[in-house]
Amino acid sequence: MALLSVLSLCVQYQTAQGTVRAVDDVSLELEAGETVGLVGESGCGKSTLGKAIMRLVPATDGKVVLDGEDITRLEGAGLKAARRTMQMIFQDPYGSLNPRHDIGTSIGQPLSVAGWSRHDIRERVAELIAQVGLPADAARRYPHEFSGGQRQRVGIARALALRPKVIICDEPVSALDVSVRAQVINLLQDLQERTGVAYLFISHDLSVVEHVSDRLIVMYLGRIVESGRSEDIWQQPAHPYTLALLAAAPVADPKLARSRRKTVLQGELPSPLNPPQGCSFHARCPMAQERCRTERPMLGQLSGGRAVACHYDLLAQPAELPRALSAAR
Ligand SMILES: Nc1ncnc2c1ncn2[C@@H]1O[C@H](COP(=O)(O)OP(=O)(O)OP(=O)(O)O)[C@@H](O)[C@H]1O
Ligand code: SF4
Ligand SMILES: [Mg+2]
Repeated sequence: MALLSVLSLCVQYQTAQGTVRAVDDVSLELEAGETVGLVGESGCGKSTLGKAIMRLVPATDGKVVLDGEDITRLEGAGLKAARRTMQMIFQDPYGSLNPRHDIGTSIGQPLSVAGWSRHDIRERVAELIAQVGLPADAARRYPHEFSGGQRQRVGIARALALRPKVIICDEPVSALDVSVRAQVINLLQDLQERTGVAYLFISHDLSVVEHVSDRLIVMYLGRIVESGRSEDIWQQPAHPYTLALLAAAPVADPKLARSRRKTVLQGELPSPLNPPQGCSFHARCPMAQERCRTERPMLGQLSGGRAVACHYDLLAQPAELPRALSAAR
């Protein structure tokens, strides 16, 4: 059994404008020690999915099973224990660090909540500080004394404090300078090798998650449109939206990046308040056919653990794909 199983999870937000279906019938699995990348444009429901798995927002429907236990409706001590097994790190570690607390207090906070003694907390904090590559005197210093990359290391140390089996990383490097991103990603990979922790790695940028992920999940407007082994998807995307995301992945020349994005991914993400009929990608899809406007494609299983929700068989168009990809890249 997988370490984490998400089964037909739905999350709806009630707003003054109506019901937002932020996560709509999403199922996924995470095995011990692996990294699954979760990608999609801003607003497609990635953070909501992560928070619903963590029980930080309530699920409207579906189940989250962690280590064999259904945690979807746990409360009190049971929920507290589940949260020890699973942690989350965010894009902006500064926002989650109390500026008046020294780093040692911030990293040790989950330990003190869990009832550890002061002596044990001090020892574990020192160990964590070394593990994430912060200077030895970091415990007594304050958040403003650190760079963005170092603050993310603090966030990672805190998430690791109780030796979780799963960490949900929500855009952990998106706010960092490009030069620091690789260091933080290397740290996450190194920690995974040492501790066996599994990551659900969320990013709007396919190029960030592609090489750290064993598998990828692509979301569009609250639903999974494609999933499979990372290298398979990178080499041969099966969904036109994945193809468009690949095309939108950053390239060195910003002018070229802008023009590519425009040609490949046209139009805005439709409102989740009023999702389109049929395939939710149809208004922006270069391969759209008549039935795409009325008939929603189901997520169908292909060979090799691949799944795709599309009426058009992109993989069966060996002549079409290289042309589409080279136009895209
Ligand atoms: N608390 C909330 N109340 C109402 N609507 C919300 C709330 N949080 C998110 N939404 C809406 O739910 C949808 C999914 O948002 P979410 O933040 O999960 O997307 P995301 O993929 O993480 O985007 P980003 O890349 O910008 O972080 C969006 O339409 C968003 O406006
Ligand atoms: S189902 Fe149709 S509109 Fe949707 S992605 Fe496939 S080809 Fe495009
Ligand atoms: Mg988000």
